[in-house]
Amino acid sequence: MNGRICGTGSYIPGRILTNDDIAQMVETNDAWIQERTGIARRHIISGDESTATMSAEASKKALEMSGIAPEEIDMIILSTASPNAVVPCVACQVQEMIGAKNAVCYDLNAACSGFLYAYCTAQAFIRSGIYKTILIIGAESLSNLVNWKDRSTCILFGDGAGAAVVQADPDAPFECVLHSDGSKGDALAKATPYTKGLPEEAYNMTMDGKEIFMFAVKRIPEVVRELMEKLPICAEDVDLFVLHQANARIVEAAVKKLKLPLEKFPMDMHEYGNTSSASIPILLDELNRAGRFKKGDKLVMIGFGGGLTWGAAYLEWQA
Ligand code: UT7
Repeated sequence: MNGRICGTGSYIPGRILTNDDIAQMVETNDAWIQERTGIARRHIISGDESTATMSAEASKKALEMSGIAPEEIDMIILSTASPNAVVPCVACQVQEMIGAKNAVCYDLNAACSGFLYAYCTAQAFIRSGIYKTILIIGAESLSNLVNWKDRSTCILFGDGAGAAVVQADPDAPFECVLHSDGSKGDALAKATPYTKGLPEEAYNMTMDGKEIFMFAVKRIPEVVRELMEKLPICAEDVDLFVLHQANARIVEAAVKKLKLPLEKFPMDMHEYGNTSSASIPILLDELNRAGRFKKGDKLVMIGFGGGLTWGAAYLEWQA
């Protein structure tokens, strides 16, 4: 028994920060950002919005679509690198906000691969028979984490949340490959304020952009091939690839290596920037609500990011 996605939802903050807005803060310009990243704007939390409130809104939409009541949720797994508090975990805050009183709740952090890890963890709980109905969420308030004086990183990131309800289904195929490489942790890092005694720069987000770029372009085709070896299909049979939305050039370079049509790799980072673990579920929800999935469509979700972490998961659309 695996799980099928039976509802998706997302929440995007209303406040927009364009490339021109960022050009007022650091020395950059719209043309440079668009050409190097494909990003035109990003949405940023304001007022009472937080990782928890965005997650709750995305979850309510996913539950509404699935027709499942909050009390039926057995577990909430929430992926974030930007929680509103260390304790309680954001998943517990969401539980309270949506009334999922029977759920077991925890957060996980695998940076931009987090939603993919959450999806595979949900499948493991379902396959083992421990739980039947699991709400998975990817949510980030990266605007609280970035150094707004560093033009090499602050142009990239945005805020948002996406959620999916995964429910046990005897007909749902599932396969995945996940990887981590802690030896490359420095490529994208930020120390918490609770870690004392580090050099000052460690408390700001630091990123080796070129290393992350090359890592992603190498690992995306690798995990697709690895995943296909576990399945009775080939990459050409896949209808849509739902990739982490970091940078349009990363997607284009990886697709070129895979020799697949770019149309199978939908992108929305021009509107939201890189929302880390929220990017896959936001895109999934957009595609779902736009009617891009038919029953039986073969989908591959691919995540990559800090840690380093990366991987891919296969599913067939059942809704
Ligand atoms: O989820 C994973 C998160 N991380 C990523 O996805 C990052 C992946 N990497 C990238 O997307 C790219 O490496 C960047 C977009 C971050 C940078 O693009 P690049 O082509 O690797 O640029 P670069 O770092 O080699 O910098 C080229 C030049 C430098 O100037 P000089 O040394 O040639 O004079 C930078 O100082 O561009 C300069 N530069 C900028 N100029 C205008 C760096 N950032 C900016 C900026 N605006 N925002």
